[in-house]
Amino acid sequence: MPPTAADPAPVGVLRERASAKINLTLRVLGRRADGYHDLSSLVAFAGTGDRLTLEPGEKLALALAGPGASVLAADADNLVLRAARHLAARVPGLVLGRFTLDKRLPVASGIGGGSADAAAALRLLARANGLAPGDARLFEAALATGSDVPACLQGRSCLMAGRGEKLVPVALPRFGAVLVNPRLPVATADVFRALSLAPGTRRSEPSPFPANLSREQLLDWLRGEPNELEAPARALVPVLDAVEAALNATPGVFLTRMSGSGATMFALYDDCRAAAAAARIVAGAHPAWWVKPTVLGGDARMEA
Ligand code: C5P
Repeated sequence: MPPTAADPAPVGVLRERASAKINLTLRVLGRRADGYHDLSSLVAFAGTGDRLTLEPGEKLALALAGPGASVLAADADNLVLRAARHLAARVPGLVLGRFTLDKRLPVASGIGGGSADAAAALRLLARANGLAPGDARLFEAALATGSDVPACLQGRSCLMAGRGEKLVPVALPRFGAVLVNPRLPVATADVFRALSLAPGTRRSEPSPFPANLSREQLLDWLRGEPNELEAPARALVPVLDAVEAALNATPGVFLTRMSGSGATMFALYDDCRAAAAAARIVAGAHPAWWVKPTVLGGDARMEA
């Protein structure tokens, strides 16, 4: 039946991409009284990720699709729904609706899949409700949902500090990259716990991040800066040694490192062609692992 004048015009389905977040470096500066840790991390976004759609409406709902749908529950704890509820609590009369999450990234893998999904949900709700991208309530809802969600909401390369809420945009050169996850989920809280920092501990700040780096200069800086969650994650997931060795054996690799609290490792290459060749080698030798060639930095946008 064609819509009458009394019917609202059908609102189209809105789409957002939820890019994987990569911690190029990560220092844990101290443990806070609230149980969180103060961090300093250089964050970039990849050209791969999940996809989220929203059909605006009054009722909040979530459906799952895609290769990762079977390992995730569309229950109230899903970060998409949590983010929506946190925004609804801050914006009276918020239009909600039915989300469909096309889950492609491995879960609990240190590349912010759930956080990127939550951030994409907030961007979709902002669009459906005419909220400006800079509306402080979006940021507040993001931080209430999770420490990585504010960075994912911005979706740009940045230096991240505090527990994840202090974000300074940076320009990063573009690299080809391969992401590898051994399909072993790791809970972030377990990795921080394995670090065993005493409350009140303060550790050294990273060397200042120099502006406008060339690729060579950035690689030099990255080689001097660790991901301090890598050692505790390796203790929990010993196969990370094999992942690192496999990536380090690929032609043209610049640097191999773990992202976030793991267990995804990334390796950097000259361009996406070199990354695709490396990914074929690693996937061929380790068919059980999740292996994804992509781009990082520059500022990467997700492929269609
Ligand atoms: O903020 P989010 O819910 O993603 O954090 C999950 C867990 O990771 C926290 O409960 C905490 O144990 C740990 N965490 C932390 N310091 C951070 C971020 C996360 O200790 N900056």
